[in-house]
Amino acid sequence: MSDAAIVLAAGKGTRMRSALPKVLHRLAGKTMLEHVLDGLLSEGFVCPAVVVGYGAEHIERVTGARCRYIPQTEQLGTGHAGRVALDTLPAEVERVVLVYGDAPLIPAHAVRDMLELQRNTRVPVVLLTTRVADTRGFGRVIRDESNDPVALVEESDLLPEQHAIDEVNLGAYVFDAGFLRRCLPLLRPHLPKGEYYLTDVVAMSARDGTKAVALEIDGGVDVMGVNDLIQLEQASRTVYDRSHRRLMRNGVTIVNSASTFIDEDVRIAADSVILPFSLISGQSVIGTGCTIGPHATITASQIGDRCTVVASTVENSKIGDDVCIGPYAHLRAGAHVENGVEIGNYAEIKQSTIGAGTKIHHFSYLGDAEVGANVNIGAGTVTCNFDGMRKHRTVVEDDAFIGSDTMLRAPVTIGAGAFTGAGSVVTRDVPSGSVAAGVPARVIRRSVRSKTDSETERRK
Ligand code: UD1
Ligand code: CA
Repeated sequence: MSDAAIVLAAGKGTRMRSALPKVLHRLAGKTMLEHVLDGLLSEGFVCPAVVVGYGAEHIERVTGARCRYIPQTEQLGTGHAGRVALDTLPAEVERVVLVYGDAPLIPAHAVRDMLELQRNTRVPVVLLTTRVADTRGFGRVIRDESNDPVALVEESDLLPEQHAIDEVNLGAYVFDAGFLRRCLPLLRPHLPKGEYYLTDVVAMSARDGTKAVALEIDGGVDVMGVNDLIQLEQASRTVYDRSHRRLMRNGVTIVNSASTFIDEDVRIAADSVILPFSLISGQSVIGTGCTIGPHATITASQIGDRCTVVASTVENSKIGDDVCIGPYAHLRAGAHVENGVEIGNYAEIKQSTIGAGTKIHHFSYLGDAEVGANVNIGAGTVTCNFDGMRKHRTVVEDDAFIGSDTMLRAPVTIGAGAFTGAGSVVTRDVPSGSVAAGVPARVIRRSVRSKTDSETERRK
């Protein structure tokens, strides 16, 4: 049986009071449309047809080649949008899964269950519903005396006695494609806006003699769509909640879920602890035995085992095992930190490699640097990497000791085991094992290490 998927995303979302197309608003790091597409993808729908109108180019920039785009030049309603998409589907498509782009919370298994229900019942329409206390803004499900759905009625069209109905249409359907091809051209516009309602096909199906079937799911507000920014906040709490529960079930301690924000795609190994006021986003991966937070912001980064990140920001970085970060450190894009490094207060690191066991304890800036293992970066050290035109690299080799307040004017290399005196401005390479100090720094002692070596030689 050939199935196709359609997502409706052409509306502006007037109730959002925002210039951004509604489906591009984000919840838990991902746009609403991406949530919907990921759900369909996980059910095997490879390249869904997305109906776009308002902000079409913007949407295409964000979601790219993972779906195909069908323009709906005038937003004449969900029924019209459905028809525009249906017309582009090949004739062999027998069933259509149609989901509204502003329904990011519909669980992927609901789509699977609807397909299964349609397969078993062969009805023209399967719709997805839930029961909620606050039904405002949603279409209601009208059932007949045998409890079968016979119509979907929009809020503005409800009869007085229908206002008490607490079962709402969630905006996801499975259709028999032949039925849809016959019905959609028969839809009539609703006044005052002249919109064609996709929901009218439920009554058409009943009139034809085959009633629709509803898959009623639990969840209430936790599965409902988003029409305004209040519902967006509610929905994003639901997504965070789901994501935190998944992690806690897998052995991650989250001290306070309400003050923690971990995106769905984040992976954290068991026995790590997430302290309050922490945000972990993007495709971040965190190992076991870590303590993250309080007040940690981690974006698209990889963190090894047994690390601590306290009150610090880590972005697009790669951190090894047993690394201590913070409080108040900032690791920017391209920070690559090896095992056992300690990074303290007000240290900023960008596009730099930091070798194992190195200590960067107090306010300093390392940009475009390659720092070896077991280096001591003294308080106030700065790589002067930018000459106003170009960025230059700094190399600090293994076991070097950079004295407090050293300015390293790049490009410059500090050799293995070399020292710089406090307050030095280093403008030329410092050979391995030697000591340089002053402004500008001059070598005041050559090759400490080789001297020590020759002393050892003499003593023999
Ligand atoms: C719709 C349903 C309502 C349901 C609710 C669930 C209809 C008539 N009503 O109402 O029963 O309870 O969703 O959230 O279907 N869209 C287009 N082109 C258009 C119009 C809309 O692509 O011409 C898209 C929108 O971008 C949106 C989706 O369809 O993603 C739903 O449209 P919306 O205007 O939000 O419908 P609701 O009023 O919420
Ligand atoms: Ca809606």
